[in-house]
Amino acid sequence: MPSINKCLFPVAGYGTRFLPATKAIPKEMLPIVSKPLIQYAVEEAMAAGIKGMAFVTGRGKRALEDHFDISYELEHQIAGSDTEYLLAETRHIIENCTFSYTRQIEMKGLGHAIEVGANLIGDEPFAVILADDYCVAEGDSVLTQMVKLFDKYQCSIVAIETVPKDETSRYGIIEGEEIAEAVFRVSNMVEKPVAEEAPSNLAIIGRYILTPDIFDIIRETPPGKNGELQITDALLTQAQQGKVIGYKFQGRRFDCGSVEAYIEAINYTYARQRG
Ligand code: G1P
Repeated sequence: MPSINKCLFPVAGYGTRFLPATKAIPKEMLPIVSKPLIQYAVEEAMAAGIKGMAFVTGRGKRALEDHFDISYELEHQIAGSDTEYLLAETRHIIENCTFSYTRQIEMKGLGHAIEVGANLIGDEPFAVILADDYCVAEGDSVLTQMVKLFDKYQCSIVAIETVPKDETSRYGIIEGEEIAEAVFRVSNMVEKPVAEEAPSNLAIIGRYILTPDIFDIIRETPPGKNGELQITDALLTQAQQGKVIGYKFQGRRFDCGSVEAYIEAINYTYARQRG
């Protein structure tokens, strides 16, 4: 049995930076070349041995559910044609994973979104992927690397990377002691601090492994930055008990919440596909 069986995808956000493209389709359906961001995210979870995909969705997000379902008419149409293979990967995912959905009615922050997903997860450690942080790695996927670390440390893990000092206000920032190469025992974390108040320039990116006690902690955490319930604040409670590891992952991340990095991600991926 793999140690992590479920991955939570908080996908209720609006994607306003991509309007008008995201007016009627979810931002997670934006393609990198010809595959939507959410499919890369699900494939990354699968590569880490995870089969239970849990989505916290919202209004206007039904295309995500349709994507991970069979489209009889379309598949009948392309059967035997030279485009049939284009749906093979998607079909493989659908046949090998289970999908569950719940709705976040109000946007009250990432911590709130994760808590809304509690009934899809139950009492077991789980992964969280933010699909607009698109990650590519040469060997093990970023989440696979993190699951291996979880097996060793048995506590919550956050993926981190070094960011320029003037960008700390876009991320959760950690402070910690490096206890092994690329592995930090987190002692402090702050959500989106200005440069002068940032404890370091080690930023959290959208990959987490969380132990299930996080749900009760979230319920007791007051709203933080921007009046939203921040997962960073809930994790601070665990960090103060020495139970959060920050991991500088191997690979490259593109912040596909920004148009510029999204275009970069497409160019990078297209170049790789063409060899
Ligand atoms: C969220 C988290 C933040 C983290 C970031 C990674 O922020 O709150 O701590 O650094 O994801 O992408 P958001 O980008 O949703 O504002």
